[in-house]
Amino acid sequence: MEQQLDEIESEAQRELAAAAGDRRRIEALGLKYLGRKGRMTQLLRSIASLAPEARPAAGLRANETKQRLSAAIEAALRAAERIERSRVERIDVTLPGRAPLCGTLHPITQISREICDIFERMGYDIVEGPEVEKDYYNFEALNIPKNHPARDMQDTFFVSEEVVLRTHTSPLQIRTMERHPPPVRVIAPGKVFRCDSDQTHTPMFHQVEGLLVDEKVSFGDLKGTLTAFVHQMFDEETRLRFRPSFFPFTEPSAEVDILCVICRGTGCRVCKQTGWLEILGSGMVHPAVFENVGYDTRRYTGFAFGMGVERVAMLKYGIDDLRKFFENDLRFLSQF
Ligand code: PHE
Repeated sequence: MEQQLDEIESEAQRELAAAAGDRRRIEALGLKYLGRKGRMTQLLRSIASLAPEARPAAGLRANETKQRLSAAIEAALRAAERIERSRVERIDVTLPGRAPLCGTLHPITQISREICDIFERMGYDIVEGPEVEKDYYNFEALNIPKNHPARDMQDTFFVSEEVVLRTHTSPLQIRTMERHPPPVRVIAPGKVFRCDSDQTHTPMFHQVEGLLVDEKVSFGDLKGTLTAFVHQMFDEETRLRFRPSFFPFTEPSAEVDILCVICRGTGCRVCKQTGWLEILGSGMVHPAVFENVGYDTRRYTGFAFGMGVERVAMLKYGIDDLRKFFENDLRFLSQF
């Protein structure tokens, strides 16, 4: 009996060693030795036919052997599974890596810079000012006194009685002229805020302000400058029109429209069926404004303009929904 047990055990260990790493073969060995008709099982059964006094010792030995064998098979199975899994999950270091997402400038930033570039080439300097602005610079000095009806045109966010979120970039006109004697030629990009939100308005948007002051500056200079700008920003064929308008800080004033690039003038949702799109407000600097900054109104004249960057971007890229600029959907942004 003992001899048989030793034989079975060493044979089984030999076969297990030969089957290392092969799960199927190990499973088959499990059956061969420990299955219902396995060799160990049969041997255990034969103990019943031994003489009664020999049974306990033989049973003990046989059970010990069986346990060792089943532990060895278990271990071999686990090792084989590990090897199999590592084969399936192996990392292929030759695969090309995933390229990291690379950020780009927001289309509004791009257009704002493009606008500034065009004016820089015409000799303008870039200036910037605070987004939280004194009532004085946003309104008062621009010839918009308290209680002036023009204040209603701009739904203002008030920080306090004397402090607002700037509703336009025009305060930069005053800040520039206070600091510099004429001639001045500046361009001022930045965020502006109005308490207004619908399909075509967002509470924050971007403007670029322009101001030129010198001797003998005429409305013709204004028209020529803005026409040159539109032709560079869009193309030489882009038609524009000057439409009489009103701003308290310019006189005379004009709004500039360009032919709707989306419908080419036939009328659409974006141009509200007019065929034209307003891109900026402009005019000759009002003498009252010059007086507020101490400029000599007999010697100097100037023009100013302010344009909406989102508007220009929509026209330039043919985008019909303002909100796209603020949703930050990468599928939209990555096109620019
Ligand atoms: N500030 C005006 C606006 O926000 C635009 C403007 C700027 C008009 C300069 C005339 C001169 O609408």
